[in-house]
Amino acid sequence: MSHTCRIELDGKSYDFPTVEGTEHELAVDITTLRDRTGFITLDEGYGNTGSCTSDITYIDGDKGILRYRGIPIEQLAEKGSFVETAWLVIWGRLPTAEELQRFRNRLTANEMLHESLRNHFEGFPPNAHPMAILSAMINAMSCYEPEMMEIEDETTLERAAARIISKVRTVAAASYKMSIGQPLMYPHPEFSYCNNFLHMMFSLPYRDYVPDREITRALSLFLILHADHEQNCSTSTVRMVASSGANMFASCAAGVCALWGPLHGGANVAVVEMLEFINQSGMKVSDYVAKVKAKDSKLRLMGFGHRVYKNFDPRSKILKAAADKVLAKLHVQDPLLEIASELEDVALHDPYFVERKLYPNVDFYSGIILRALGIPLSMFTVMFAMGRMPGWIANWKEIHDNPKARLQRPRQIYTGNPIQDYVPIDQR
Ligand code: ACO
Repeated sequence: MSHTCRIELDGKSYDFPTVEGTEHELAVDITTLRDRTGFITLDEGYGNTGSCTSDITYIDGDKGILRYRGIPIEQLAEKGSFVETAWLVIWGRLPTAEELQRFRNRLTANEMLHESLRNHFEGFPPNAHPMAILSAMINAMSCYEPEMMEIEDETTLERAAARIISKVRTVAAASYKMSIGQPLMYPHPEFSYCNNFLHMMFSLPYRDYVPDREITRALSLFLILHADHEQNCSTSTVRMVASSGANMFASCAAGVCALWGPLHGGANVAVVEMLEFINQSGMKVSDYVAKVKAKDSKLRLMGFGHRVYKNFDPRSKILKAAADKVLAKLHVQDPLLEIASELEDVALHDPYFVERKLYPNVDFYSGIILRALGIPLSMFTVMFAMGRMPGWIANWKEIHDNPKARLQRPRQIYTGNPIQDYVPIDQR
C-alpha cells in the first residue's frame, strides 16, 4: 500500500515522501521541511523521531518482538553463544565455522592488557565506580593501538572489534579485583569468553574458580540478551559520536557513559537496591507500590516500563525462566526473588501500571541472575556494557560504512532571554 503525507502550514500545503521498513514500519521523511517551510519538528525525548534507518535490530514493542539481523532473540537465547551473536550483530549474518574460529582466536589474542595499561588501575581509588574505569580504559586502550583509530578495511575492523570486546571483559574483571584489593588475574587462553570472565573475577592465584555449566550458560544468555536494542539512549549516543568521525573506541566509551544512568543501564542496580530496601524495611509490597503511585511521587518502580515495549519485554520473559533455573540449580533461596514475584504480580494487576502499559523490563530479572552468579551490585551496569559492546560496534560500523552518513546535529527551539546588554560587574 502506498502512503501519502500532506502537511498544511499557514494555509499552504506541502507533500512529503514516506518511508517503509522491511517489517512495514512507517515514517514521514521530513528532511526538507525546514528548507521549504521554515518550521522544524519538536519531539522532546525523540518518542516519534527516527534518527536513522538501520539493518541491525528489529523491535515491535506492541507485540514484544526482538530480532537481531532478523533472527528472533528466543532462538539465539536457546541455541547461540555470545561470541557468535556478537559476530552476527556486527557483520549481519551468522558466521561460518571458520569465521567464528577466527574471531574466537582474535578474542584470545587480545585478552591481555598492555602492562602499562594495567598500571592505569593504580591511578584509580579502590572505590572508583567500575563504569568510570571502563569508559576511561576504553579510551586509554586506543592510545596503544593507534592503527585502530583509522579503520580502512574489514580485517582491521574485525581486529578492533575483537580488541574492544575482549579487553572490556579483562578491564571489567580487573576493576572488580582492584576494588576488593585482590591481585588481578591474567586471562586464560583456553577458556571460553564467559568462563574466562568468571575466572578473572573469582579465581585467586592459589585457587582456580571452576564455574558450574549452568552459571556459564546464564552469563552467556545475559550477554546475548543485551547485545543490541536499536536506537536506545546509549546506542544513539554511540551513533552521534561516530557521526563526527570519532573512532570506535571513543564512540564506545561514550556509550558506556550514557548507559551508566539509572533510567537506562543503571536500572539493573536500582532494581536490586529497591528490592533490598523493601526486604530490609519489612515494608509490604503493596505499600511500596502505593508510594510509587502517590500523586507527585518521584519514586518509580524500577525495572518497570519501557519507551518501546508496551506489552511485554521478551528479554525479561527469557531471563525470568533462566533465573528460576539457575536459582534452583544452585539451591539459592533469594528473598529478593520472592519480593520481585510479588511486585510483578501486584503491578501487573494494578490499573495504574496496566493503563500506562508498564511491564517488567530486562533489568527486572537480570539483577536476580547476576546476584545468583555472585556478581557484585557495583558491577551490574558494567555487565550490561560488556553485553552491549557488539551492538555499539555494529552501529558505529553502520555509520562508518555509509558514504552518505552526515554529522548528527539536531536543532532546538530557543526559549531563553530575548536580546539584552552585557552589564559590567560593578553595576550588577
Ligand atoms: N514506575 C512508576 N511509574 C512509571 C514508571 C515506573 N517505572 N515508568 C513510567 N511511569 C509513569 C510515569 O510517571 C508517567 O505517568 P503520568 O502519565 O501519570 O505522568 C507514565 O508512566 C509515562 O512515563 P514516561 O516517563 O513518559 O515514560 P518513558 O517512556 O519516558 O520512560 C522509562 C521509560 C524511562 C524506562 C520509565 O518507564 C522508567 O523510568 N522506568 C524505570 C527505570 C527502568 O527500569 N529503566 C530501564 C529501562 S530498560 C533499559 O534501559 C535497558
